[in-house]
Amino acid sequence: MLNFPSIPLKTGLASLALLLGMGSAQAQKYTQLAQTPPMGWNSWNKFACDVDEQKIRQVADAMAANGMKAAGYEYIVIDDCWHGRRDTLGFIQPDKQRFPSGMKALVDYVHGKGLKFGIYSDAGNKTCGGRPGSRGHEYQDATTYAQWGVDYLKYDWCATEGLKAEGAYTTMRDALARAGHPVVFSMCEWGTAKPWLWANNVGHLWRTTGDIFNCWDCLQDNGGDWKAYGVMRILDMQDGLRQYAGPGHWNDPDMMEVGNGKLTPNEDRAHFAMWCMLAAPLIAGNDLRQMNPQTLSTLTNKAVIAVDQDPLGVQGFRFAAKDSVETWVKPLAGGDWALCFLNRGRKSQPVTFDWKTQPIHDDVAKRDLAADRTRYKIRNLWTGCEAGTTAKPFRAEVPGHDVVMIRLSK
Ligand code: GLA
Repeated sequence: MLNFPSIPLKTGLASLALLLGMGSAQAQKYTQLAQTPPMGWNSWNKFACDVDEQKIRQVADAMAANGMKAAGYEYIVIDDCWHGRRDTLGFIQPDKQRFPSGMKALVDYVHGKGLKFGIYSDAGNKTCGGRPGSRGHEYQDATTYAQWGVDYLKYDWCATEGLKAEGAYTTMRDALARAGHPVVFSMCEWGTAKPWLWANNVGHLWRTTGDIFNCWDCLQDNGGDWKAYGVMRILDMQDGLRQYAGPGHWNDPDMMEVGNGKLTPNEDRAHFAMWCMLAAPLIAGNDLRQMNPQTLSTLTNKAVIAVDQDPLGVQGFRFAAKDSVETWVKPLAGGDWALCFLNRGRKSQPVTFDWKTQPIHDDVAKRDLAADRTRYKIRNLWTGCEAGTTAKPFRAEVPGHDVVMIRLSK
């Protein structure tokens, strides 16, 4: 990893020239970050453009105190619409009405809670919400973020006519590296240019699809090419991508809708469980200041989170589908496995899994679940109960739109 000095803002344009003269070709992604999928919160799914410093502080207070920080959540990310204008030298300013104390003070506040701070920009001229984008200001913006102490950048893809994704994201990666403050780089170009094929060394995570929509299995058509997808639709769109994910470079099926009021508690649980099976970034998208105990316990189930955060870093896969029930499998470090039975239908369904007659092989991890040779202990991750061993077939009842998730340990 290359390290570059951070340059104070007051040195302004002179330092920018210096930065640009340094030859960006050597710059690299910060390679030690996001060794497991990032965990945090993002403002967009709940608040859209209605963000201000008080709200962000309160959300940070909530995350630090309610058990989420203890469960591993770390980043507080302000999405679109925090921006004011650029000043006469081109430096971006936060919206003065909504962020009267300035961004540095807010970042310091979040850091003071033992959390990290994320911000949002766009590779084009404008963000999706019509605020100033970073096109032509990449090094300047990266320097500004470093000066503020920003630890995470979500970088969107609106208003990018004439730009190529690989070049545009590489430019910002280099700018962030040059600015010298470690930043997790979250690429949000919706899978359009297949970032999984080229972004391994560019971003730490990349969106694989258009936006999530707060429903179980609907398609929201916003006109033109602009569609948003329910949780099950997003899940289906992850097919064929698992071999591209791993420590430091994750597929991102978008921020979660858990606790945002449209999904039932069972659906919230299934949504969360499937994101963990996918080794997805766990970015909560609900109002952490007022969450019911059910939502909080879903978001903070440590045994389920451990499946997502498993150090082996292999994304799970759909092993079988029968009637409305899918069987998902994820290999874990130390020879363990997670299995998740997902019932996509409304009616409760019994499942039986016979370890002897259904051998599991994972092409990506190059590993077999050899239950005929090894006896694993089974734990039900949502109830926390022991559930026998693989000596006998596993039986359970999966409620409609819900999961039964288990961990096999040697
Ligand atoms: C795009 C992104 C969303 C969100 C909005 C903000 O739609 O995909 O996640 O950041 O822009 O305008």
